[in-house]
Amino acid sequence: MLAIETEADFAAWMGSIQARIEAALARNLPGAQHAPARLHQAMRYAALEGGKRVRPLLTFAAGELVGADPARLDIAACAVEMIHSYSLVHDDMPCIDDDVLRRGKRTVHVEYDEATALLVGDALQTLAFQLLAEHPAAGNAAAQLEMLRTLAVAAGSRGMAGGQAIDLEATGKTLSQAELEFMHVRKTGALISAAVKLGALCAGPCPAALEQYANRVGLAFQVVDDVLDTQASSATLGKTAGKDSKQGKPTYVSAMGAARARQFAEELRLGAHAALDTLDHPGARTQRLRQVADFVVLRKF
Ligand code: IPE
Ligand code: IPE
Ligand code: MG
Ligand code: MG
Ligand code: MG
Repeated sequence: MLAIETEADFAAWMGSIQARIEAALARNLPGAQHAPARLHQAMRYAALEGGKRVRPLLTFAAGELVGADPARLDIAACAVEMIHSYSLVHDDMPCIDDDVLRRGKRTVHVEYDEATALLVGDALQTLAFQLLAEHPAAGNAAAQLEMLRTLAVAAGSRGMAGGQAIDLEATGKTLSQAELEFMHVRKTGALISAAVKLGALCAGPCPAALEQYANRVGLAFQVVDDVLDTQASSATLGKTAGKDSKQGKPTYVSAMGAARARQFAEELRLGAHAALDTLDHPGARTQRLRQVADFVVLRKF
């Protein structure tokens, strides 16, 4: 009974944050009617109405732990989700993964064109930093600077963009587990970690234990993405399933098989919970972070 209540409570919370971030993104993206209208429409197409919004869930769960102002969390979560949406647009382009389906819709370069997809990525990325820099709810100057730095590092050549470069170089090759981890931590883990850190930074410095939680959830996220590519349908995922092996991508599934990859993700989930144990004191609100870690690892899409 208690487990069912907890699950229903998490589903309701998740739905409320998803609706909240949708509204915040819609507010903070340029209006579709403003020139250059086609680019603005494509930016809204890429960022709105789609996705699980896992990174905003993490920002809000971390923010809840530290008692951050929800208006600040909106800005931090929007910035991370804009970078994530941009990374998906570029990831799907013919020069990277060449995908036609994303979030249940045609990819941006298919719906618009390649040049527009490139520019959507550029513009979403810069808008993320602009929001953090200028929005009055973003916090004081020192906190804003640290958020900007954290997001820049996570998105750049030592984070997501670098991970994508390694992914391209590794296509068709076999990677050791250490090399796979090096790639996954960058291409996906870095931005997931940044989502958690920005949530904490909305109220003060990010505790080391929370960073440890974030790193484990970040790696687990891509391990599960690799598993779902082999086990779920395109309809369930809203993106083309079974592409990794077709394209010769080294993944946790190709390295160790789906069962061991799931086991590894489960170990990371427990590791994420263990990191939170050190933050637990009477009144600490780690429950949401635990639930999001569970969702990341146990999700079916
Ligand atoms: C997909 O991310 C790309 C990876 C980093 C593995 P998500 O699974 O979070 O995609 P959306 O936002 O829910 O569409
Ligand atoms: C993408 O990894 C990571 C990004 C930086 C976008 P994938 O290529 O595995 O993501 P999907 O499976 O296309 O969503
Ligand atoms: Mg890719
Ligand atoms: Mg891809
Ligand atoms: Mg994938």
